[in-house]
Amino acid sequence: VGVATTPAKAQNYPTRSITMIVPFAAGGPTDVIARIVTGHMAQTLGQSIIIENVVGAGGTTATARAARATNDGYTLITGHMGTHAAAVPLYPKLAYHPEKDFEPVALLAGTPILILARKDFAPKDTKEFVDYIKANSEKVNAAHAGVGSVSHVSCELLNSILDVKPVGVPFNGTGPAMNALVGGQVDYMCDQIVNAVPQINAGTIKAYAIATPERNPALPNVPTTTEAGLPKFQAQAWNAIFAPKGTPAPIIAKLNAAAAKALDDEGVRKRLLELGSVIPGAADRTPEALGALVKGEVVKWSAVLKPAS
Ligand code: MLT
Repeated sequence: VGVATTPAKAQNYPTRSITMIVPFAAGGPTDVIARIVTGHMAQTLGQSIIIENVVGAGGTTATARAARATNDGYTLITGHMGTHAAAVPLYPKLAYHPEKDFEPVALLAGTPILILARKDFAPKDTKEFVDYIKANSEKVNAAHAGVGSVSHVSCELLNSILDVKPVGVPFNGTGPAMNALVGGQVDYMCDQIVNAVPQINAGTIKAYAIATPERNPALPNVPTTTEAGLPKFQAQAWNAIFAPKGTPAPIIAKLNAAAAKALDDEGVRKRLLELGSVIPGAADRTPEALGALVKGEVVKWSAVLKPAS
C-alpha cells in the first residue's frame, strides 16, 4: 500500500469532501451516530463528509472495502465492536484485520445493548421471556444485522447463557431489522440503545432489560438485566472512526481533534445522550485509546466466539 500523500498535502487536508463509509443500512445505530458526529466534524474541517451506506455480511463487506481504500484521509469508516473485533473469530477468511489494516481515529460512542421484542410478543417481562425462549427455542426468531454484527453477537451471548438456539433472521442493519420488529414480522432482537429509544418511547416495541450495570437516563423505566434476574447478560457495544492503514499521522490528528470537538459540542451531546449513547471522556478519545480498545476486544471476542457454520 503506497502512501501518496506528502506532508504538505497532509497539512492542507482536507481540500475536498470526505467519504464516510457506514457498513450498515441507513437509520440504524451506526448510521445515526456517524451522521450526528460527522455533521459537526464537517463544520470544523470545512469540508462536507458524505455518508455512504455499504451493506452486507454483517458489515464486513464495507470494512474490507475501507481497508483497501486510498489512505489519504478522504475515505474513512465508522466501524464498531462487530466489524472491528467480533468479526475476527467469526470469519476465518476475513479480508482485513482491524489492527493491521486500519488506523484508529476516534471512539464516538458506547452503546448499551437491550433485549427488545415486538409489541405483542407474549412474555411480559424478562423472567417470562427467559422461560418462553427456553420452552419455544426453535419456534421463535431473533432479528440481527448479519453474522458478526453487534446485534448478532449480543444475542449469541444471550443464547449461550440461556442455552437456546432460536432462528436468526439477518437484515442489512438493525434499521431495517427494527422496522420488521415494529411490524411484528420477527419476535425479538438484541440491539444497541440508539435504535431502540425512539421506538420504546413511541410504544411500538417492548424492552425487557438493558444489559448494563446501571439503568440508562434515556430509558429510566427499563430495568437492568441484573434487576430483571438475568445478571450474566452484560453487553455494551461501541462505534468508532477508522482510516485505512498508513493514513498520515497529521491527518489522523486533525480528524481526531474534529471528532473530539464534536463530542464536546452541546447540540451533539444532547442528541447522543437522548438516544442513550455513552459519550467517551477525554482519556478514551485518543487514537491510542481506540487502538488499545480494539486490541482488547479482538482478544475478548476471540475467546468467546467460534467461526460461523
Ligand atoms: C447498524 O447500524 O445497523 C448496527 O450497528 C448493526 C449491528 O451491528 O447490529
